[in-house]
Amino acid sequence: MTTPLNNRRWRLVRRPEGDIAAGDLEFTTAPVPALAAGEVLVRNVYLSLDPTHRIWMSDRDQYLPPVEIGAVMRGGGIGVVEDTRSERFARGDIVSVGLGGWEDYTVASERQLGRVRRLDGVPLTAHLSVLGSTGLTAWYGMVDIGQPKAGETVVVSAAAGAVGSVAGQLARRRGARVVGIAGGAAKCRWLVDELGFDAAIDYRAEDVGAALDRHCPNGIDVNFENVGGATMDAVIARMNTFGRVALCGMISTYNHSGPVPGPADFARVLMRRITIRGFIVIDFLPRAREALAELTPLVAGGELKWKAHVVDGLENAADALGLLFTGAHDGKLMVRISPEP
Ligand SMILES: NC(=O)c1ccc[n+]([C@@H]2O[C@H](COP(=O)([O-])OP(=O)(O)OC[C@H]3O[C@@H](n4cnc5c(N)ncnc54)[C@H](OP(=O)(O)O)[C@@H]3O)[C@@H](O)[C@H]2O)c1
Repeated sequence: MTTPLNNRRWRLVRRPEGDIAAGDLEFTTAPVPALAAGEVLVRNVYLSLDPTHRIWMSDRDQYLPPVEIGAVMRGGGIGVVEDTRSERFARGDIVSVGLGGWEDYTVASERQLGRVRRLDGVPLTAHLSVLGSTGLTAWYGMVDIGQPKAGETVVVSAAAGAVGSVAGQLARRRGARVVGIAGGAAKCRWLVDELGFDAAIDYRAEDVGAALDRHCPNGIDVNFENVGGATMDAVIARMNTFGRVALCGMISTYNHSGPVPGPADFARVLMRRITIRGFIVIDFLPRAREALAELTPLVAGGELKWKAHVVDGLENAADALGLLFTGAHDGKLMVRISPEP
């Protein structure tokens, strides 16, 4: 094999304060190390950009160790095996790299990798979104925790985003009435016209509480929460007895340090016997097969809609991450690092 001389990569050099700023991450190069036994050299093709990257850049209490200052920025993706000292992977295999890095090449232990089996007519980007951890997150949160039933009312925040759009469609398929909260008229139209949501609330243009009163006349049974803060407060204040909250994310708070406000009326959780369960998809990966058994045929048959927003060039990754916090992207955000095999 020809060892690539230079591996371009992004290192975390400063913890962001507030929004991610130029200079928090540094674009550098380093040689690719030789492979040890059981290791695989992966040429990264797509890098997933996720809101949790902002959490990993901070040193707040979190579910994985923070990325250390000076270390390559952590991230997952899809790539192709270029060299291998593993019996399990051969050159040319397409693999998903769970916790890799923002870099051209990743030297991964075989235990870090999953095999990607391409489906006819389904783009590779699906395996980093609706058939990757995005879809698993939506499935686990909605099906396992939310447990929507026919006729119940479900509210999803960041509903036009990668996770929210899949979560809402899964609830709709179970016969629930689904209301999405999203930013902007175009995203709201997509939810109702294309995905079959019953209603969508543009949180940038209208008062969320008043709109929830209008669209959820019978209260709310399930909340798939992606935003936190004032949005979550408005939803929980309208939840029914024995309601369920799948607390998936709180993106409106990730750029703030210190404690974040919870529901103003926490007593409602007691009075209405509401279950709130935070969850992280990595705890669920051993059950991925179960979720993919539902998601894969729906994606292959075009019944589950999804979008990818692909930014070209590893050098643009740091700027692209900011799109998640402005909503200026449309679909699962990822960076194309090198051509598809
Ligand atoms: N628990 C888990 O295992 C897990 C796994 C994956 C993701 N997540 C969480 O799921 C959520 C969605 O992630 P994603 O990857 O699917 O990203 P995404 O929804 O595609 O993108 C993030 C969206 O969040 C919305 N947003 C950003 N800042 C906001 C603010 N201040 N107020 C209201 N909305 C805001 C924007 O939606 P608009 O354009 O509509 O404004 C933006 O498009 C995040 O909270 C993330 O942390 C959790």
